[in-house]
Amino acid sequence: MGDTFTTRCRFVVLISGRGSNMQAIVNAIEQQGLPADVVAVIANKPDATGLQWAQDRGLTIHGLDHRNYASRQDFDNMLAELIDSYHPDYILLAGYMRVLTPEFVSHFPNSIVNIHPSLLPAFPGLKTHQQALNAGVQWHGCTVHFVTPVLDHGPIIAQGVVAVQADDNPDTLAARVLRVEHRMYADVTAWLAHGRVSLDTDQRVHVSGAANRSFLLTPQGVETTESIL
Ligand code: GAR
Repeated sequence: MGDTFTTRCRFVVLISGRGSNMQAIVNAIEQQGLPADVVAVIANKPDATGLQWAQDRGLTIHGLDHRNYASRQDFDNMLAELIDSYHPDYILLAGYMRVLTPEFVSHFPNSIVNIHPSLLPAFPGLKTHQQALNAGVQWHGCTVHFVTPVLDHGPIIAQGVVAVQADDNPDTLAARVLRVEHRMYADVTAWLAHGRVSLDTDQRVHVSGAANRSFLLTPQGVETTESIL
């Protein structure tokens, strides 16, 4: 990790549903001509709608029903084996809604990246937009981070913010946060593909050449904070 890849960077993407963040990742690779490939898209639900989109784009897909496995451990063991067969540099979680076992996480050290729809460490878990409204926060957003065995926790790669409006409900808030998610995951994909992301001994992330790794939804669209400071 953190090295400049001499070959193309290999991503395995894990999804559970619609897969709009997966689409942002795939589109970023294509539109920016990144030296990277999504070598497989894997869903823990065979009917995840994102799988069809991935197949239509010519990507290799696997739909695995976690309910067919006796335990979380059994499923994660099989998942790790399948992922290993693709020799990925990074595993990108894009709306993957299943808790990973510590054994799975330690099998891929500093290689699993997640997007979470809140400004971590605030509001881990589910229903993050409702949690934000209940707390009355005026800024909400999303986080891309390296995965550790602790759920929704780990070294932060990037964060994006949206201002909460007085008349927001969880759906309106989710829709605005999602716009930031897509832009932010696309940029993080580029940083990873170019080998710019590293972790120091304090487990803090560094992205070479990036003075700032925050994003902001403005009336003009999603901006990097760097571009408006
Ligand atoms: C996204 O908002 C993502 O941040 C969230 O699920 C949604 C998936 O949408 N992930 C989590 O809550 C993970 N804890 P998508 O399938 O359209 O990318």
